[in-house]
Order: sequence, then structure tokens, then C-alpha cells
Amino acid sequence: MSTEQGKTVYIETFGCQMNASDTEVVLARLADDGYSQVDSVDAASLVLYNTCSVRDGAEAKVRGRLDSLKPIKRERKDLRIGVMGCMAQRAKEELIQAHPHVDLVVGTDQFVHMPALLKRLEQEQQVVATDFGFFESENWSARRREGVNAWIPVMRGCNYNCTYCIVPKTRGREKSRDPNLIESEVRDAVANGHVQVTLLGQTVDAYGKTLGDGTSLAKLLYRLNEIDGLERLRFVTSHPKDITDELLIAIRDCDRVAKHLHVPAQCGSSRVLRLMGRRYTREGYLDFVERARRLCPGVEILTDIIVGFPTETDEDFAETMSLMRDVQFDGSYVFMYSPRPGTGAWNLPDDVPEDIKRVRCNEALGLQLSQQEERYGRLHGQVLSVLIEGVSKSNDQRLQGRSQGNLNVVMDRAGHDDCIGRCVPVRINGSTNLTLYGEHADQEPTLVGTGGLDFLRLDI
Ligand code: 5AD
Ligand code: SF4
Repeated sequence: MSTEQGKTVYIETFGCQMNASDTEVVLARLADDGYSQVDSVDAASLVLYNTCSVRDGAEAKVRGRLDSLKPIKRERKDLRIGVMGCMAQRAKEELIQAHPHVDLVVGTDQFVHMPALLKRLEQEQQVVATDFGFFESENWSARRREGVNAWIPVMRGCNYNCTYCIVPKTRGREKSRDPNLIESEVRDAVANGHVQVTLLGQTVDAYGKTLGDGTSLAKLLYRLNEIDGLERLRFVTSHPKDITDELLIAIRDCDRVAKHLHVPAQCGSSRVLRLMGRRYTREGYLDFVERARRLCPGVEILTDIIVGFPTETDEDFAETMSLMRDVQFDGSYVFMYSPRPGTGAWNLPDDVPEDIKRVRCNEALGLQLSQQEERYGRLHGQVLSVLIEGVSKSNDQRLQGRSQGNLNVVMDRAGHDDCIGRCVPVRINGSTNLTLYGEHADQEPTLVGTGGLDFLRLDI
């Protein structure tokens, strides 16, 4: 049972890193208000779901969670139930109607006011707060988990309007944060032991545009690259149209910046890309890849792929597969198209049958994994710089970390616990299609980034 007097919060987070980061901020605000975090509904006086709307599957999980809380709330009238994040923003009416036992519906810009909203519940039956606000000038002290990485949002929202995507609706227009604030948050994170910082934004490479004073992600990287104690600086996610030469050169020249780009292509057919509203063609994407690998040799390029977008034919899908072969992505997240109400594509017929979506999804994933297996095999004998994150979850005789790009590397633990939280040279001596295995090496790394065609041509 819940601690009747104590303020305790159980929070479950769905979706992307931005949500993970919002959860950390809300936990910090709640901690200031006297809440402690617990790891079960039973022990909680407040249950929060930080939700995602990108695909219906993520929303369905939350609907299920809320259904199962209904009888619990009947037993424990004082239990507070809140929904925050994208689903709260997108579907507030639906949530309140279908789940009247929900006390709080808190939108993507309002969650920072959680303690005040909870206070309102002392007078009001139900509180719904979903206005978009301008809080990007606030200091977002976050309550971070211990560990190597700290997420730091540099912008919110998105000014693109890709026709499958709910994000512009749930997170509003693009808003960049002040670089001074960001720098001070990065310094604080490093002082608190986070040796890696990941800058977050829906289109992070557009950072600075809305500030209108020449601020850019490239300039921010140069500035943060000066911070002593910071081992790795990452950023996600990028739109191909916003990746400037200046940014690619900054990634190349800043030694703390990971040689890693997550730049979703989404599809390889120019016809479908036009329907998706992506603002580039297949050729445009290939030009970007060529430019990235020329200006920043070794940079790893990861993609997201959507299969089964309305009207996608076998020929369109074959073009996606051939794009994957042409580019040789360093990683691919593959999703089956899920129609989202209120998006541009909502009115198009969802005409690719579910089983065909599944077959295409598996084919794309299979191709990615076989390409990865081959590429990882070629890395045997190379020495990579690996930021060791901790003990491997699946084997406590091993340490796990990430390469200069973002490859998952595991090395023997014995005698090397002092490597945790540091970048160390690891000689690769084995691999599967998902993981590289290696041992601590006493020499400088032989490769900085492992991505790209130049590397593939190396005869090792
Ligand atoms: N259906 C399937 N996948 C989607 N994504 C975004 N919207 C949808 C949708 N409606 C994918 C895109 C995006 C990633 C975060 O989720 O590939 O890059
Ligand atoms: Fe969605 Fe497109 Fe914006 Fe990415 S760029 S968040 S896919 S609208």
C-alpha cells in the first residue's frame, strides 16, 4: 500500500530521449516539492505516465496502463494519476472521457509546473494544462540518473511538417534555448560526474535558427568542446536539410564530439518522400551522405526508415532497400507506418496491409543486420576509442561502452573497473551483428570514426 503520509511518485516514461529528459526535469521539480521516487504503483501517492504519440502502439500501452489503474483508484481515492507528454497534448479530450479517473493531464510545455498543478488538485476535481508556453529560457535543473550520460535539450518542437509525424502537433513550433544556459547546464552535468552529454532536439541541427543572432549547432559544439572533463558530446536527431558544411567540419574538428549522425532518410523512393513532405529526394539524400563522408571522414550515419507509408509499392520499397545498400548505414531503426490523427497523411488511405508492412520491416532490418555483421567483421584487429559506461548488463565479467561513433563495444572486465567513465583504447577481436568484443589495448586508437565508404574500401 502507499505510504499514506509520504509524497511518493511512480513515473513510467515512453518514447524518445526528449521524454526521458522531461522525466528527469519533472522528478527534480517534484523532489523540491518533497516527493521521493518509488518503483511501483503500490508504493506511490502519485502515478505519472510520460507518454509518446509517434505510433499508436505507444499510446495503446498507456491506455492499457490507465485501464488497469481504474480498480486501484476505486480502492485508493487519494491516489493521484497524471498523464504528461505527447499523448496528453494530442488527446486530452479523449483521455478525460475514456479515463475519468485520471486527475491530471499535463502538456509538453506545462510539465515544469507540476507541483503547482498538483496543488490545484486540492481545490479542483481534475486539472488539464496543455497550453504551449515559452519556458526555454528557464534553467532546467534535472534529477539525473547516475551514469555516464546526461541528456540536455537545446531546442524543442519542430518546424517541419512531415505528413506522417505527430510531433509538430504535440511539441509545437521550434524553439531554441539560450547557448549560455546550455553551457552552464553542460558544465553542471560534467561537475556532477556525467562525462558524456547528449544534446537533444527534434531537428537538433536547426538549433539556433529561431534565436536569429547567428547561433548555430556548429558554434555551440565548438564552445562546449572547450569544457574540461567532458569526454564525449553527442546530439540527436538531425534533418538532412539542416546539416551545413560548417556543422560537418565542427564534428570533424572537435575532438570531444562523437563522429556520429542520426539523420533519418525515412524512405528511398523520391515519390514517397514527396508524399511524406520530407523536402528532399533520394538523390538529395545521397548528396548529403557524400558531403558528410567527404567533409567528416569516418562519420557514422544512422537512419530511421518507415515502411508501408500510404501507396508504397513493391518498387518503392525496393528503392528503400537499394538506398540502404548504397549508403551502408551504420544503424537503422525501422518502423511500420502508423496513421496518426491530425497529421497530413491521416486522410490518405492506409492501404499497405499489415502483413506486408511486417514483411518489409523484417526485410529492411535483416539487410541492416547483415550489413552490420560484415562491417563489424572488418573491424577485427582495429583499436577503437571506447567510452566505458559500466558493467555489461548481460555478463558481469565484461564492461560495456560506446565507440567514437555509437557502436556497442564490450570488453573483458578483469582489472579494468577504473576504465568506467573514461575513453579507453579497445582492440576489437570479435563481433556479432549488434556488438563488438575486444580487450583493453596499450596503444592509440587506429580509427576515429568507423563509418563510411572509404573505410569499407580499406583492406584490413
Ligand atoms: N508511423 C511510423 N513511424 C513513425 N515515425 C514518426 N511518425 C511515424 C508514424 N506515423 C518514425 C520516424 C521518426 C521516428 C522517431 O519515428 O521514422 O524518425
Ligand atoms: Fe517529425 Fe519530420 Fe519534425 Fe522529424 S522532422 S520531428 S519526422 S515532422
